[in-house]
Amino acid sequence: MIGERLLKAMNDQIKNELESYYLYLSMVAFFHSRNLDGMAHWMRCQAHEEQIHAMKLFDHVIDRSGKVELQNLAQLKTDWSSPLEAWQDAYQHEQLISGNINDLTHIAREEKDYTSEPLLAWFSNEQIEEEASTGKIAAEMEMVGDAKTGLLILDRELAARVFPAGSPLDPVAYSQAG
Ligand SMILES: [Fe+2]
Ligand SMILES: [Fe+2]
Repeated sequence: MIGERLLKAMNDQIKNELESYYLYLSMVAFFHSRNLDGMAHWMRCQAHEEQIHAMKLFDHVIDRSGKVELQNLAQLKTDWSSPLEAWQDAYQHEQLISGNINDLTHIAREEKDYTSEPLLAWFSNEQIEEEASTGKIAAEMEMVGDAKTGLLILDRELAARVFPAGSPLDPVAYSQAG
């Protein structure tokens, strides 16, 4: 069983992860509109990850006999003045999510809910990766500046993103996991 306070915080985080999913889907559409299909592909993978993040919390709440309460999603940004701005926003958004995970971990500790620690540690580690990857791309975009060739090279590079087989983020592996 999960306590009321942590349950509410987890339901809030399910919403935050689904908002991330929605935000990144908007970025997918934006990148396609700029003919940056590689960036759109990378962001499509990222959106997929966010959906899985939401489901990890969703399943945890159900397994702990809590009630999943899906909330309205906030209307987030749907357009950007440049690809650079979109990547900067993605990086900023991941920093916000890291703060959410920290708060969630803090609440779990205050509530002495040690059962949720492995899951929350997984999320903390994941946030290190999310900030590193989006921060790196945003920095590379800044380096590229107005150089179209650099933009195309980066776009081709981001087109290569794959989920490693058997990774917990691979949709097949996730559906088969314990
Ligand atoms: Fe996430
Ligand atoms: Fe990730």
